[in-house]
Amino acid sequence: MKKPDNLILIIFGASGDLASRKLIPALFSLKLQNLLPEKFVIMGAGRTPFSDEDFRKKMKEGIITFSEENDPDEHQLEQFTGHLSYIRIDNTSAGDFKKLREKLLDMDKSYGTGSNYIFYMATPPGIYKTVSENLAMVGMADQSKGFRRFIYEKPFGYDLESGRALNNILHEMIGENQIYRIDHYLGKETVQNVLVTRFANGIFEPLWNRNYIHRVEITSAESIGVEERGSYYDSSGALRDMVQNHILQMTGLTAMEPPSSLEPDAVRNEILKVFQSLQPVREADVAKQVIRGQYTGSTIREECVSGYRQEKGVAENSMTETYIAMKFYINNWRWGGVPFYIRTGKRMPARVTEIVIYFKRTPHHLFQRQEGNLISNMLIIRIQPDEGILLKFDMKEPGSGFNIKNVNMDFHYKDLADVRVPSAYERLLYDAMTGDSTLFSRDDEIETAWKFIDPIQKAWANNPGIKLYGYPAGTWGPSNANEIIEGCGLDWRYPCKNLTDDGLLCEL
Ligand code: BG6
Repeated sequence: MKKPDNLILIIFGASGDLASRKLIPALFSLKLQNLLPEKFVIMGAGRTPFSDEDFRKKMKEGIITFSEENDPDEHQLEQFTGHLSYIRIDNTSAGDFKKLREKLLDMDKSYGTGSNYIFYMATPPGIYKTVSENLAMVGMADQSKGFRRFIYEKPFGYDLESGRALNNILHEMIGENQIYRIDHYLGKETVQNVLVTRFANGIFEPLWNRNYIHRVEITSAESIGVEERGSYYDSSGALRDMVQNHILQMTGLTAMEPPSSLEPDAVRNEILKVFQSLQPVREADVAKQVIRGQYTGSTIREECVSGYRQEKGVAENSMTETYIAMKFYINNWRWGGVPFYIRTGKRMPARVTEIVIYFKRTPHHLFQRQEGNLISNMLIIRIQPDEGILLKFDMKEPGSGFNIKNVNMDFHYKDLADVRVPSAYERLLYDAMTGDSTLFSRDDEIETAWKFIDPIQKAWANNPGIKLYGYPAGTWGPSNANEIIEGCGLDWRYPCKNLTDDGLLCEL
């Protein structure tokens, strides 16, 4: 892999959690792999006053606590943090941005970073516009000398109107090819592997359509609650926080047509087509197709766990969903009539994300099945944890007669010796540094995703009678979610921590 060109990376909101938990540890890992530029500076910018020394110390602690590198040695840490510096900035002050510009130009000269700058917005989304305008105002969006790239964390907008407005404002100052909108799920190795599984193997493509697939199920469950993010989450909810972005992107990769190449726009055009083919959920159908839930207090492994409404920053009568299950269709030739079921929630029994392809049954059933499951063949693409792939199929149980048993064929990333799976942020930061935007969301993808989400959000707002079901923390969500699965005897898959364990009695 090539080293990126020399550059200065400026992180706005650098005193926040994202910088110390994810960004700086990811940059440190890139440094250890020799994948940072020859010459680089990482500058934190934020309201909190820090000296360079204090900032380095805080980031060093972040690396020690959160880095995936085992036991980083002191010398490596010192060497890396030597590239960090900090500037205190009021994001609304034009004067501060002029000072920032002066400082950046000086540093660029003294470190020889080639007038290349990347601005990372790790701030609350409400100030993306102000920061970007101020940067443009002091000439920092101008690419006549060196590159200028702008990375935006999610959420990108709050609904279609605000997402579109943000795109429009940014486009007045910055070209779309300078904008990198993060969806960290796209940075996950296993999410990218969906493309490889589908398009590097000739055996799947002929079956990957409405003729052979019965349904698709995507689960993204988390065992944690909202933790310290109650006030953000309460104005967001699972639909905006997980479905509009991560789950729809996974749907896009699962359902897309083969791209003509791996060029950023070739891949993103195909994902966009999937989003454009999503059958809108009509307001009248929301109660039937979309189940929302909120966790209530409970005991998990002998520990008392608060309900959502008792969490810090959450309104005591909050109607925000911490769980959502829904059914939708993709109206195109490949997927017409195949239901897609998605499910995501906080405070579920396990942290697990997976995509399950259920293949149709054989047209004539020669053999009696012992077990209840009516579907013989499932392909499970495990995003996390125990990353891997599992194919389930029927075989004959040895002995007289034709008793059949459903068995597993599995691959686990952890079995690959000496292969290190990079973190999502490592991959995305490296890609932004090398100018590859394939794994970042484009303006039209974001807007089309919001277009799908908006009617659901509106239906909830307009019809307070649509139920919000409680579910005890530590469970798989409201049982009403089973009702949206069509067909008797069918149910969700209840995944375990280990990919190949099945059923409700497993390690969570
Ligand atoms: C974030 C959401 O985008 O993704 C969080 O805002 C969620 O609420 C997180 O916890 C999940 O990411 P991961 O990588 O832990 O599955």
